[in-house]
Amino acid sequence: MPSTDAAPLTPLALSEDLPPATVMPIWTPEGPMALWRSVGGTLSLAADRCPHRGMRLSHGFVRGEALSCIYHGWSYDQGGRCLRIPAHPDLEPPASIRVATGSVLEAGGVIWRARADDPSLPPDFPGFVPLRSLSFAVSRDVISRTLGGESAGPGILKGTLAGSAVILLCAEQAEGTSLIHLLAPADATLDQRIAVSRAAETLRRAAETGTTEAAA
Ligand code: FES
Repeated sequence: MPSTDAAPLTPLALSEDLPPATVMPIWTPEGPMALWRSVGGTLSLAADRCPHRGMRLSHGFVRGEALSCIYHGWSYDQGGRCLRIPAHPDLEPPASIRVATGSVLEAGGVIWRARADDPSLPPDFPGFVPLRSLSFAVSRDVISRTLGGESAGPGILKGTLAGSAVILLCAEQAEGTSLIHLLAPADATLDQRIAVSRAAETLRRAAETGTTEAAA
């Protein structure tokens, strides 16, 4: 099974949204994938399709250091190899039963899609911390125009929401939609963070309806 390492660094999720022993669906340019964290805290990325009968692995569950399929319980290690087939407990699964995997990096509270052959590290955002993620039903370009901010690199926007400087990490999703990971100033008060969060929802409404509703 080939590796799915084909895309450059792309923000996938906020670290706090993926605690140990959980799995979540992730869309990447290569297609749907399952992002999961083992009980021990190791991050892994697997194609979101069980090699057995195609069930989405993001619907599965994490036990220990393995991801198990919800349908018949086949479990896979972090390298994608099948570890166990419950219907045949005495069988050692053939090495040919594998799920494709990808590389991920975690830095500053953000999980990034990485490439095994690319030593690039995720960008650093000193003075900012992750606040929340939001799905937008519009492209990154529309969000950028609506925010009126400036580009700070591929998929990275700087702007102002509710009077606070913010950074938006933008990941293109399927069918022209976007997933935004919002970073706020590390020294923002709780009230300021709430205001930024609400302004981000206003930004989303404005971007999706094509209005110029003020968010800054
Ligand atoms: S479809 Fe995954 S174990 Fe059967």
